[in-house]
Amino acid sequence: MEQKSIRIAIPSDKISVLKFCKNTFSWGDYIQDVWNYWLSEGNLLVIEKPYPVGVCHAFFSKNQVWIEGIRIDSNFRKQGLASDLVKYVESLAKEKQISFSLMLIDTENLASLLMAKNLNYQIFQTWNFYSLLPQITNNHKIQFGDLLYYPEISHYVKSWRWLVLDDEALFSLSSQNKIIFSDKFGDTSIAILTDSQHFDDTMIVTLFSGSQNNTLELISYIQNYGAQKNYKKIQILTREKLPFIKNLEYKITFNLMQKLLH
Ligand SMILES: CC(C)(COP(=O)(O)OP(=O)(O)OC[C@H]1O[C@@H](n2cnc3c(N)ncnc32)[C@H](O)[C@@H]1OP(=O)(O)O)[C@@H](O)C(=O)NCCC(=O)NCCS
Repeated sequence: MEQKSIRIAIPSDKISVLKFCKNTFSWGDYIQDVWNYWLSEGNLLVIEKPYPVGVCHAFFSKNQVWIEGIRIDSNFRKQGLASDLVKYVESLAKEKQISFSLMLIDTENLASLLMAKNLNYQIFQTWNFYSLLPQITNNHKIQFGDLLYYPEISHYVKSWRWLVLDDEALFSLSSQNKIIFSDKFGDTSIAILTDSQHFDDTMIVTLFSGSQNNTLELISYIQNYGAQKNYKKIQILTREKLPFIKNLEYKITFNLMQKLLH
């Protein structure tokens, strides 16, 4: 059997990696759009046999490692290569005394879910992804959040990474007016607005829906804000199912998988 090894990606790996990251999913893939960014962030890994046949990126923050973009060349699947990459990242995380490893998997991606379960990941939360078209609206009344502590909110989404919403993140987001809420009608709905670091003119919203009417207020505000600021796309991630709203489209559901490393 040929030797396999894992190493940090270098710029010249791009061509060989993108060859097997073209038609990964029915809609294609996004690795070509993030490659340069991930390379510059560090911890972009390839597994070679002896040339690259798999890739993944690790993002270390606070007490967690976020594993993203796992791709194995379809000719080399079911040989344990993705599991090797994940285990390698976990070993790096353990060296850094990091406690949690997380990854996001489409609830329909059985191969990936089975791989994660085999490696002792568990479903931590389930999230729905909606896209919303920016549009000028009126009649929305929202408030900006200050340093309130929302104990039920553990993570928020930044560039498709679920990051820990600790006091530091809360302070930074609220001081930029990125936390909005509505509490006019029963339980409070909260949204955290961020810009995608990978895609221009794309807003990413983490939405916590307390009540449907409060959520409608937030969505109306977000649509209007998006239109005024010339965003092309608004992506909403929420644990709840959202009601039918014009220009809001349900896309996909993900499991946020988590593993306690030590
Ligand atoms: C998902 C993916 C990364 C798995 O890579 P891989 O190298 O084939 O995975 P492994 O060989 O490490 O598989 C580990 C376990 O996962 C499960 N698994 C992997 N592929 C599977 C498949 N096609 N069907 C069923 N189970 C599968 C099995 O339990 C397997 O263990 P086993 O071989 O002992 O039965 C690969 O199929 C891939 O690149 N898919 C497209 C991209 C993708 O979905 N990435 C993940 C995004 S979250």
